[in-house]
Amino acid sequence: MDVMELLLPNLLATHRLGQVLGRSLPAGTILLLDGNLGSGKTSLVQGMGQGLGISEPIVSPTFTLVNEYLEGRLPLYHFDLYRLDAQAVDSLYLDLYWEGIEYPLGLVAIEWPDRLPQWPEPALHLQLSITHDDQRLATLMPVGQVLPSWFKSLQGLMAAG
Ligand SMILES: Nc1ncnc2c1ncn2[C@@H]1O[C@H](COP(=O)(O)OP(=O)(O)OP(=O)(O)O)[C@@H](O)[C@H]1O
Ligand SMILES: [Mg+2]
Repeated sequence: MDVMELLLPNLLATHRLGQVLGRSLPAGTILLLDGNLGSGKTSLVQGMGQGLGISEPIVSPTFTLVNEYLEGRLPLYHFDLYRLDAQAVDSLYLDLYWEGIEYPLGLVAIEWPDRLPQWPEPALHLQLSITHDDQRLATLMPVGQVLPSWFKSLQGLMAAG
């Protein structure tokens, strides 16, 4: 399976990666944003917002659980599951955000996906880790069956910067 690794030397680079994702990902894409406290998950979603053309400031949904932004190319649904246990996660009915019935399909960004009882498929797993010199390493992996053409074109976009 293809895995993409990208070194993000600074906050701008994290924002740029988010912008590429926001501009190019198709409706219904689920991003599982993994990584320690302060690794840049919310920063990445801020870049996604820019890429989607959302002008409203994107803030961490730590207390609101979900923030919805509807003004861009696609809706953006941003979750932070940090404080939740499995039961609380169940009661959020997250599936409604990617089934395309209750809510229009958009991009779903989930911080702390390890809180999910099981990972939805297909999805994009994006792991951020902090390097010894305080840069970030992003690792992108498809979960389940992600359209190969879609992942390939993403690789092309990343390579192009
Ligand atoms: N590529 C990078 N290199 C260095 N610093 C970065 C990079 N990307 C983001 N940062 C910084 O790391 C911090 C990350 O904060 P952010 O809130 O985005 O992390 P988070 O993963 O969402 O944290 P939390 O788990 O608390 O929600 C910010 O101070 C940001 O400026
Ligand atoms: Mg965060």
